[in-house]
This record gives sequence, structure tokens and C-alpha cells, in this order.
Amino acid sequence: MTSTVVAAERMPTTRRYLMCPPRFFAVEYSINPWMDPSRPMDRDLAEQQWTKLHDTYVDLGHKVETIEPQPGLPDMVFAANSATVVDGRVLGANFRAPQRAAEADHYRRWFIENGYHNVVMPTRINEAEGDFAWTGKFLLAGTGFRTDPGAHAEAQEVLGVPVVSLQLVDPRYYHLDTALFVLNEDEPNIAYYPAAFSKGSQKVLSRLFPQAVIATAEDADCFGLNAVSDGRNVILPTEATALAKQLESRGYEPIFVEISELKKSGGGPKCCTMEIRG
Ligand code: ARG
Repeated sequence: MTSTVVAAERMPTTRRYLMCPPRFFAVEYSINPWMDPSRPMDRDLAEQQWTKLHDTYVDLGHKVETIEPQPGLPDMVFAANSATVVDGRVLGANFRAPQRAAEADHYRRWFIENGYHNVVMPTRINEAEGDFAWTGKFLLAGTGFRTDPGAHAEAQEVLGVPVVSLQLVDPRYYHLDTALFVLNEDEPNIAYYPAAFSKGSQKVLSRLFPQAVIATAEDADCFGLNAVSDGRNVILPTEATALAKQLESRGYEPIFVEISELKKSGGGPKCCTMEIRG
């Protein structure tokens, strides 16, 4: 039924995002297999790519807030890692890598200064939307490389939403959002790369989402699953052409962006984009 819906019938919903300009972006350390500090990275190009992503959201009618980047925090551009917001409740982050630890408090302060009173900082290692994906009904939660499984229970308690734990098994897909994204929330559906998950988690995903878009190894390798959907428009890396074709056949509108420089840090469109819900 869903698969026959045509593009004209898919309705986008207006979103609110928080992003951080990559003014101090750099690949200075290596905390995932994509990061090689000896490889040149062009920050001007990174800024152009980030600005294009930002402007794409604005052109689609979404509201984009920005947070001030901080010197000495080269990964702060990856806003998705710093909070999970559902119904106006904010669960902050607690990074695994000491190099990123200080980011969490800058984002916490942003929420306080912007009128959010319901802000809780986690006690467990929690990399926020890097490992948490809101489907509209429940939270999909990844673990294996970054977020502690104990953070899943903590998220359930703090946010008051059901949490489904998923085990990540491939270090290249170290965050849930590198292997899975939510396509639409009204009748929740996702796209994902099965091989990034344990056998048991693959079964869970196929039970929950029998209509899911199944991505190929090539789609995953170019960070195609680090995509952002508003229910109709799907922002994804230019190289993700096969995935884009599948999305089109399901009535979604793929919109391509370049992410070559951000990818050198193991990030893509979704990593740069935190969604503020409510
Ligand atoms: N260099 C960052 C790290 O390894 C990239 C984070 C990407 N963010 C994401 N949501 N997957 O922590």
C-alpha cells in the first residue's frame, strides 16, 4: 500500500533543526575508521558544503537554528550527537571520546538559553541522535561502538518513549545514523543497511518495518543512510544514486548534497543536523 503512493501524495512536514557552522572543523584525531588526520581536508570547501545543506533546509521551508562553534572542538559541527529532543524534552549527550566531551555542555547551554526547561544530562555514554532515531512512535537506539546500552533505558525513562535497542556490528557504521534513517513518521518507515546490524537486530528491523527500503553496501559506503527526510524530501549524498532511485519509486523526492570534506571525519548530512521536536 505504501509502496504505490506517488510523490504528489507524500506530504512533507515542517521541521526545526539545530546546526553548527564548521568554522573550527578539522580532522585532528581518529575516533572512527573514516578519520585520517594525515589526509588533507579543505575547510573552505567543508564550509561551502555545510552552507549548501543549511540553505537546502531553508529553501524547503524548514526552520534552522544555529549554535556558535567553539575553537578546539573540531567535531562540534556534528550537531546530531549532542541532544535527543522529543516533545520538547531534551536529553543531552555524554561522549565516549574525551576529545568531544566538552561539546555536550555548549549544547546544553544553548537549550537553556533558548527557553527549554526540561533538559536532562545523561549519566551513561550517550551520543544522542548519532545513535537514537525517532520514528514518530518509538525510539530506535543503536549500541556497539558509542552509546552505552544503559543509555537506552535512560532515554526511555527521561523521554518517556518506548525504546528498541539495536546492535551495531561494523566499525565503519559506528553510529546508528550511518546505517539507518527514518523516512516518514505518520506510518513509520525506514531505510537501512542490514549488514551493519547483528542477526538478531536485523530480524527486529524486518519485523517492525516489513516495507523498509533496503540499502546496498555501496549506498552505505557513500553515507547514503546518513540522510534527512521531512516525509517527502530526502537530503542525501550525491553518490547515493541507487538509494535515490529506490526512494523515488516509493514517492520520495531525493535532493543531493556534496559531503566530501565532512565525510573525512565520518559525517554526512544527518550528523550535521539535530532535529528539535516540540
Ligand atoms: N568525527 C565524529 C565522530 O567520530 C563524526 C560524528 C558523526 N556524527 C554522526 N551523527 N554520525 O564522533
